Amino acid sequence: MLSRTAQIRLVSSHPEVYDPCDDSFALVDALLADRANLLEHHPSICMEVGCGSGYVIASLALMLGKESSDCYFIATDINPHAVGVTRKTMEAHGCHADLVTTDIASGLEKRLAGLVDVMVVNPPYVPTPEYEVGQFGIASAWAGGENGRSVIDKILPVADKLLSDKGWLYLVTLTANNPSEICLQMMKKGYASRIVLQRSTDEESLHIIKLWRNLDTQLEDGILTGFFAFSHGQITCAFRGRWKQSQI
Ligand SMILES: C[S@@+](CC[C@H](N)C(=O)[O-])C[C@H]1O[C@@H](n2cnc3c(N)ncnc32)[C@H](O)[C@@H]1O
Repeated sequence: MLSRTAQIRLVSSHPEVYDPCDDSFALVDALLADRANLLEHHPSICMEVGCGSGYVIASLALMLGKESSDCYFIATDINPHAVGVTRKTMEAHGCHADLVTTDIASGLEKRLAGLVDVMVVNPPYVPTPEYEVGQFGIASAWAGGENGRSVIDKILPVADKLLSDKGWLYLVTLTANNPSEICLQMMKKGYASRIVLQRSTDEESLHIIKLWRNLDTQLEDGILTGFFAFSHGQITCAFRGRWKQSQI
């Protein structure tokens, strides 16, 4: 399949900022493939956690185009150099986002709780020794700790707090991160999920997961009585004897 990578010019770079790579392209391709749904979704707030060069948030703003004129964009990164590069990328493409140097969404939770309609995250997901996680500079772009899950596992509860009732989360993962386990974990919190793009590169097998609140998967008495199967990018779950195929 031809890549439908958005055309974003790299107008600025920094040795300590992650340049757009296969994972960034895969995330943007997944968003492009879902563009019609995104337009229909009419998001009021779109947020990126870990914006790096700004390639993804700029692509999202451009693909929503005029439809996004009343949409508020916000992006965070723990690396202040990334925030600087993202600012230049956004400006060069005539887009605007509030840009915040912070750990995930620290300091923003109160303001954004329950309001984010679209969240995009290409997290540090490479399995590394735990001590490499959260280092300053370029290492923070990839170091994901055990199974590459340290930062992902911190982002998920924050996403749960910030996403609106109709909120969608697009998350980049690797096979090593155990994406089906991530889906199951989020299913326990009432989310449905689907692998919207799977792509193997020379180095890694990427899965872009889309998660959304699904009232049908809310748990009764906090007990999960479901069955869960994962194959060919499709999450299928059965609850209380009833089959449900999650498709969005
Ligand atoms: C794999 S890079 C992705 C960059 C960009 N989104 C892209 O797709 O090209 C991960 C980004 O997350 C940032 N990051 C790592 N840990 C973070 C944290 N705890 N809070 C916010 N950003 C973080 C890194 O600095 C880096 O810019």
